[in-house]
Amino acid sequence: MLLTEFNPNAIRSEFPLLTREVNGRPLVYLDNAATTQKPRTVLEALEAVYTHYNANIHRGVHTLSQEATQAYEEARTTVAQHIGAPERESVIFTSGATAGLNLLANLLTERYLLEGDTVLVSEMEHHSDLVPWQLNAPRKGAKVVKIPITDDGALDLEQLQALLHRERVKIVAVAHVSNVLGRVNPVAEIARMAHAHGVLVVVDGAQGVKHGRVDVQELGADFYAFSGHKIYGPTGVGVLWGRRELLEALPPWMGGGEMVGTVSFEGTTYADLPFRFEAGTPPYIQAIGLGRALQFYHECNQQAVSEHENRLMRRGYEGISQIRGLRVLGYSPDNAGILSVTHPKIHHYDLGVLLDRMGIAVRTGTHCAEPLMARFGITGTLRASFALYNTEAEVDTLIAGLERAVGMLA
Ligand code: ALA
Repeated sequence: MLLTEFNPNAIRSEFPLLTREVNGRPLVYLDNAATTQKPRTVLEALEAVYTHYNANIHRGVHTLSQEATQAYEEARTTVAQHIGAPERESVIFTSGATAGLNLLANLLTERYLLEGDTVLVSEMEHHSDLVPWQLNAPRKGAKVVKIPITDDGALDLEQLQALLHRERVKIVAVAHVSNVLGRVNPVAEIARMAHAHGVLVVVDGAQGVKHGRVDVQELGADFYAFSGHKIYGPTGVGVLWGRRELLEALPPWMGGGEMVGTVSFEGTTYADLPFRFEAGTPPYIQAIGLGRALQFYHECNQQAVSEHENRLMRRGYEGISQIRGLRVLGYSPDNAGILSVTHPKIHHYDLGVLLDRMGIAVRTGTHCAEPLMARFGITGTLRASFALYNTEAEVDTLIAGLERAVGMLA
């Protein structure tokens, strides 16, 4: 399916789940920042492995193993192309963004942090790019310090500059796109600032990877991690990309099969990239599914997709802003297809439950970003997040649903 003209209705028909009803209404699925639905081509790719060539990879001379290995390694190439990686060997399959970020927090702490050093983490960060640093940095007597955000939800770059001058910073950890606000952080600028101080830049790409074109080299990232399930692929697989020389300078993390050179009780040597970071049987079927998902995404035209999601977000913003009491947190027209909504008197959870009764799926809560909630003095938000298969009609259903829910609860 190569769509020259972007057409969400044609794309929808590729997603079997979207035809279901919820509470007697057609499903309006707007929880895409939590996970996306899967196109038929991904489901078929998974089924094809299980029914035709399932065998453990890199471990067999037999035909099935060779076929599965080839498909897995092709998926690695597809990922490398998707993120503009200069070579495929620096693409490591993990179980998800969280696993990649934990690997980095462990190994970068081990390799680089010394007593009194600082890791800077953005105030809008998802817990998965904050807690791993909190777990690890203290092992070396290093601290984790926040990069504050402004009242309108942007990273405060002046504060970042001041912190880079004031603290002995070794690492900056920042989301490409905030999972709560949809804010697209100026990663290239942040990387320039950090690199001027010899500081490494870790980017959580969980939301950013599905927002238009991603080029890790243009972003200036040193490391970039994301999950497959947020970009139309299966759960259980993710990617960690790192600059080759940096990855090569890190010790192995998890030990096990396939990450070694030779093993003996006298001493073990370790495999080259990427295998030294892929101990055990990797999620090879999910990785093959992710490769197919990325191909699908490209066939849909990623630039058109991000413009479409942005249009939906702006339409949603205009409608929601008209509803008495509702406020969209940290909104900017350049945000990436996410609207986080609050009401001074109505709990976001109550709104979410009422929307669900109307067949509308949104996420409510802190979105694993409690420091951001504290920054705005709120307990949570109702979040609508858009994907390539959402339509303007669905946005209008959301607006009407919110209007009704607020009317019932206010
Ligand atoms: N990180 C995912 C979200 O923002 C689960 O919903």
